[in-house]
Amino acid sequence: MFTKVTERAAFGASKFRGKNNKIAADQAAVDQMRSKLNKININGRVVIGEGEMDEAPMLYIGEKIGTGFGDQLDIAVDPLEGTNFTAKNLPNAISVLSVTQKGGLLSAPDTYMEKIAIGKGLPENLIDLDNSVEKNIKLVCEAKNTIPEKITACILKRSRHNKIIDDLNRLNVKIQYISDGDVTGVISVIDSKSPVDIYLGIGGGPEGVLAACALDCLGGQMQTRLVLNDDNEINRAKKLGIKDLGKKYNIEDMVKGDVIFCATGVTDGEMLNGIKESNESYEANSFVLHKSQNIAKKVTNKIKK
Ligand code: FBP
Repeated sequence: MFTKVTERAAFGASKFRGKNNKIAADQAAVDQMRSKLNKININGRVVIGEGEMDEAPMLYIGEKIGTGFGDQLDIAVDPLEGTNFTAKNLPNAISVLSVTQKGGLLSAPDTYMEKIAIGKGLPENLIDLDNSVEKNIKLVCEAKNTIPEKITACILKRSRHNKIIDDLNRLNVKIQYISDGDVTGVISVIDSKSPVDIYLGIGGGPEGVLAACALDCLGGQMQTRLVLNDDNEINRAKKLGIKDLGKKYNIEDMVKGDVIFCATGVTDGEMLNGIKESNESYEANSFVLHKSQNIAKKVTNKIKK
């Protein structure tokens, strides 16, 4: 039933593909997602949302969601991940949502977060944010019985990553840059069709928790740490109950118990195709994961407008 929510949000955002208006695209996704969520029989609470109560009119952290009847659930939403992609009609814009039982998700503030992730089948706790780039690459190479030249690292192209990029270049590691969309970037470490072996860098905190939900279902490894730049950000983290501000979070610290992850394509992309609209309906492509049910599937649905 949660796929219907990301399908609708993606459809809302799709109306703004190539219209150079990322705020309107995001708003459309938020409106559609909220309206669909509020029709579901759950007693839900937004844990990761569009911002904190005073700054976000809808889907803010703490907002009650659903009809109020049914299971108590925590919900992480990113109605439009890739606002720039949508505004410019570039690949990889998606609508994303994760659901756990109450208390199952790290309540991360909308600040930056350091992230490192690798795929499955590797020794537990192999990589660490406190290691140098060189050490992490060496550990991945040893575990995969390969050399740095054959490793691909995915990273957001941002000047804050220049040092990591220099280190990767010095090691001759191949780099797959992304211009936005690090939920998809992190997930690429477990995509058998992608060459990516490791994801590194700083991106949004909410996107970090959402990506952790996907990797939790699919078996990858991820470690994160909040980046809190000033007193305001520190206070926001404290307000959400975070005591150890420098804590390194592994997946099990960010996601507990069962988890559902749904993503629907807005624009065509590597993971998913975008919305295809016809006169009376639209076609939506989604990626659906449900940990306890061992579900990991792509779904295409034709939906009446
Ligand atoms: P939006 O879709 O909300 O614009 O976020 C896109 C994104 O690229 C995220 O995937 C990423 O975590 C974050 O922005 C990075 O932030 P910044 O653009 O400030 O480096």
